Amino acid sequence: SDGPLVLGIESSCDETGVAFVRGNILVGDALASSVDEHARFGGVVPEVASRAHLESIIPMIERACEESGHKLDDVDAIAVTSGPGLAGALMVGVASAKALALCLDKPLYGVNHLAAHVCADVLDHGPLPEPTVALLVSGGHTNLLVVRDIASDIEELGGTIDDAAGEAYDKVARVLGLPYPGGPHIDQAAREGDRDAIAFPRGLTSRKDMDRHRYDYSFSGLKTAVVRWVEARERAGEPVPVNDVAASFSHAVADVLTRKAVLACTEQGIEDLQIGGGVTANSQLRALAEERCAEAGIRLRVPRIRLCTDNGAMVAALGSQMVQRGLPPSDLALPADSSLPV
Ligand code: KG4
Ligand code: ZN
Repeated sequence: SDGPLVLGIESSCDETGVAFVRGNILVGDALASSVDEHARFGGVVPEVASRAHLESIIPMIERACEESGHKLDDVDAIAVTSGPGLAGALMVGVASAKALALCLDKPLYGVNHLAAHVCADVLDHGPLPEPTVALLVSGGHTNLLVVRDIASDIEELGGTIDDAAGEAYDKVARVLGLPYPGGPHIDQAAREGDRDAIAFPRGLTSRKDMDRHRYDYSFSGLKTAVVRWVEARERAGEPVPVNDVAASFSHAVADVLTRKAVLACTEQGIEDLQIGGGVTANSQLRALAEERCAEAGIRLRVPRIRLCTDNGAMVAALGSQMVQRGLPPSDLALPADSSLPV
C-alpha cells in the first residue's frame, strides 16, 4: 500500500489509543479505557485518567505493533494529540511520543484532537471532500466547523456556549437514575419512548439568538428543563415516564444539532457534512441527520462508531495527512495545550 506509515498516540481524555496508519488505511490499533474507573464519580477524574494512561501507554504501543505486524522502527513519523484535552492526560502521550521520536530519529507531529476526530472519517471513506462542514459531538466538545484543508485550515463556525452534547446526556441520565456514561442508556430507553411526549426547549434557536449565535449550541437550559420536569413529577407523587423523557430529550438534542449543521451547509454553499465524536453513536441523531441531509441534498459521512469515539487511529490519520501535505514536523519541545483551538 501507498503513503507514509504513521504511528498515532491519543491520550487527551479517558482513552489511551495507539495505532498505525499507512496513507489513509488503518493497519492496526490498540485501545485501553479508564471509563469504568470514573463511573462512580459520574464524570472523568483528571488525576485518575493520567495515572491510567501512564500504566497503559507502553502496553498499547506494544499491542499496536502486534496488531499491525510492524516494528516501531518501520514508521515514517509519529503523531500525537497535543491538545485540547486534560493537561495531565495529554502530557503522558506527548512525553511518550517525544521519547519515541528522539530514540527512533523520526519526525514528530503534534495533532489537534478536534481535527483528528474529523480526520477519522478518511479511514472509512477515503479522502475528505474539501471544503466540508464537520459537526463534532462528544462528551467534551460540540463544534460546527468548516474544513477547507484538514491539515491546516479549519474554521470554527460555532460551538457550545455551555455544556457539550455528551455532557448533557450524562447529566440527564443521572437525573433519570441511569448509569454513567449515560448516552447509551438514554439511547436505549428512548427507543421505547415517544419523542413528542414532552416539548423540551431547543437552545439558541429563537430569532434573536439566531442573530448572535447562529451556529452555536446551548444544552444547559435543556438539561435544567428536564430536571425541573422530572422533579415536578416526583413532587406530585407521579411516576416518571423515563422512556418518554429520554426520547423527548434526545430528540431535542438531535433536532438542534442537525438543524444548525444543515443550515451551515446551505448557507456556506457546502454539500458535504461529516459527523463525528462519541455522541454520533446516538441512533436518533444518526437517523435525523440522514433524513435531513437527504432532504437538503447534502452528502453525509459518518464513520463507524469505533472511529467516532477517542482512538489512536484518528491521530495517525491526521498525522499521515500532515506528512502527505508536506507540513513541517513539530519541535521536540512541543507543549501539551489543554485549550488548543482548532
Ligand atoms: O467522543 P467520546 O467517546 O469521548 C469524549 O468525550 O471525547 O464521547 C463520549 C460521550 C459521552 O458523554 C457519552 O454519554 C456519549 O458520548 N455517548 C452517547 C451515546 N454513546 C456515547 N450519547 C448519546 N447516545 C449514544 N448512543
Ligand atoms: Zn474526543
